[in-house]
Amino acid sequence: MTSTDPAPQPHATAEQVEAARLDSKLAQVLYHDWEAESYDEKWSISYDQRCIDYARSCFDGIVPDDEFQRLPYDRALELGCGSGFFLLNLIQSGVARRGSVTDLSPGMVKVATRNGQALGLDIDGRVADAEHIPYDDDTFDLVVGHAVLHHIPDVELSLREVMRVLRPGGRFVFAGEPTTVGNQYARRLADLTWNLTIRAVKLPGLGGWRRPQAEIDENSRAAALEWIVDLHTFSPADLEKMATRAGAVDVDTATVEFTAAMLGWPVRTFESTVPPGKLGWGWSRFAFGSWKTLSWVDANIWRHVVPKGWFYNVMITGVKPS
Ligand SMILES: C[S@@+](CC[C@H](N)C(=O)[O-])C[C@H]1O[C@@H](n2cnc3c(N)ncnc32)[C@H](O)[C@@H]1O
Repeated sequence: MTSTDPAPQPHATAEQVEAARLDSKLAQVLYHDWEAESYDEKWSISYDQRCIDYARSCFDGIVPDDEFQRLPYDRALELGCGSGFFLLNLIQSGVARRGSVTDLSPGMVKVATRNGQALGLDIDGRVADAEHIPYDDDTFDLVVGHAVLHHIPDVELSLREVMRVLRPGGRFVFAGEPTTVGNQYARRLADLTWNLTIRAVKLPGLGGWRRPQAEIDENSRAAALEWIVDLHTFSPADLEKMATRAGAVDVDTATVEFTAAMLGWPVRTFESTVPPGKLGWGWSRFAFGSWKTLSWVDANIWRHVVPKGWFYNVMITGVKPS
């Protein structure tokens, strides 16, 4: 983080949450500062081969084959980096030599920078709003983001900023954005899981599965913010039009995860509702193995049967004209 970056605010008060209802960017900072230190655990994020392969599969799944001879890009930027999952793992997979991890949440920049340094990567971190990227024109060869566009009020403005900071011929890749149809089933399944789990752990004999009340209250306050920070869902065609209007060429989208998302959302919600560490390795192996199997079924069977827009995640790439 730079010396002028604001400090993280990990414990939002009820008053701050109230103020955030009218200010979506304050909500982003409070919500993501709150979850920054536990984010990797909540989302089972790691910096080993499992997540390196996943990040790389997103990149390979959308970038055309003839781009691979350009790798590694020299300088990459990540917007909305969170704990650094996407760019740190892409750098580890050989996609870029060095990178800047940026986020609106100071807490996230702190964690991402720490993670990158622990891995010995050539990275720096900075608090940055994706609508006003604090870097000069023509700076980066690659701009990436994962699960960030849906949080940005003016997505097209942000994509114009991406085009500005890319060098001519540079590429952007955004992955992990919710489709409009996918978001509907994912939210319903996650809400159902949350309500069932919260009730179940109140049953006699299940006290050990219950988080302390203060934590549940803080989680509920933060969960209220989640509705404010998730601003958009996308249809692949609309997202392509936005990128083209922002000045990109060779724009393309792809979608992934159908039944895998129907499993993944309840599993992740359940994991975040019970005390950390309660479920153990056996559960993690079961959850990841099932998700992988269903992802394979989605990619090899459902892809030929259901429309592209029904899958949960959309990714998009494009190029700044030379
Ligand atoms: C769902 S998290 C994803 C984090 C990470 N990319 C990942 O996939 O694990 C979204 C991130 O976007 C950040 N964010 C939200 N609005 C932003 C904005 N306007 N500019 C930059 N980052 C933003 C949030 O603070 C948060 O860290």
